[in-house]
Amino acid sequence: SILYFIESIEYERQIKDLSNDQVSLPEHHFVLISEEIEHEYWKFVERGAKDAESHFGVYVEYIGPHKSNPAEQVKLFDMAIAKKVDGIIVQALNDEMFTPLIDRAIDKGIPVITIDTDEPNSSRIAYIGTDNYRSGQLAGQALIEDLDGEVYIGIISNSFESTHQQQRVQGFIDVVEEVPDIKVVAMEESNNSRIGAAEKADKILREYPEITAFYGTSALDGLGIASSLMAMERDDIYIIAFDTLEETLYLLKQGKINAIVSQEPYEMGFRSVGVLHDIFHGKEVNEVNHTNTRVIRRP
Ligand code: BGC
Repeated sequence: SILYFIESIEYERQIKDLSNDQVSLPEHHFVLISEEIEHEYWKFVERGAKDAESHFGVYVEYIGPHKSNPAEQVKLFDMAIAKKVDGIIVQALNDEMFTPLIDRAIDKGIPVITIDTDEPNSSRIAYIGTDNYRSGQLAGQALIEDLDGEVYIGIISNSFESTHQQQRVQGFIDVVEEVPDIKVVAMEESNNSRIGAAEKADKILREYPEITAFYGTSALDGLGIASSLMAMERDDIYIIAFDTLEETLYLLKQGKINAIVSQEPYEMGFRSVGVLHDIFHGKEVNEVNHTNTRVIRRP
């Protein structure tokens, strides 16, 4: 009937008003590619990026492999370019794999921001994250302050292939090398797993029983080292870990871990979205945006 017709026009008009007034669609679709989607460290990054969504009126799709896998990260990156998203935030784990993709995205007009690990040789627009070399230096300085006499160190990194892990090791070595009594005697990879780190700590101790200190250069390494030393009841060995995960902070309080190098993953997530947003609004952005890193000891 005509009445029904008028009513339905009215209904449509109301819906339209409603969508005009109340639902504002996100201005842009960004993708954030992490190392491990469910990892506690990356959950902080995700939370920061998600909080930035409503702040900047954008949509952030948070993705990543379930288990650290640079080849899969590259595949996800490739797909984001193919989907022609508006912007990409990526942990650029290493030069050979990531630089070509970053450059391709930029060629196609998609801005790329690196997060957590930088790739300065690429054409990425900006980096947001820790100064990884400096964080390694801080770890070295803390160890020098905390220990006297002869020190034999085992280092456990999540991967020797990752730029940020290399920088954290290099910064550390450059500092401790200055002290003749301090020696790095062993270095192993954990493959970004706590069990991996625990096994490597066991292996190092078997091969180098003189070890007096361990340095874990990513979030799960210190936890793996600590669990291995606790199982052996070795509380005479010094541990410096990375990242303020809940359990790491707990072990610091318990005195099982001696010092932590902190990073600001939430801040990285939030600010990376802000930088992309600024780019779309014609604002000038800084190329290198370092978030805070410092050493935390037992309160
Ligand atoms: C690093 C991340 C890494 C995480 C887990 C952190 O220290 O900054 O890149 O994914 O540890 O290993």
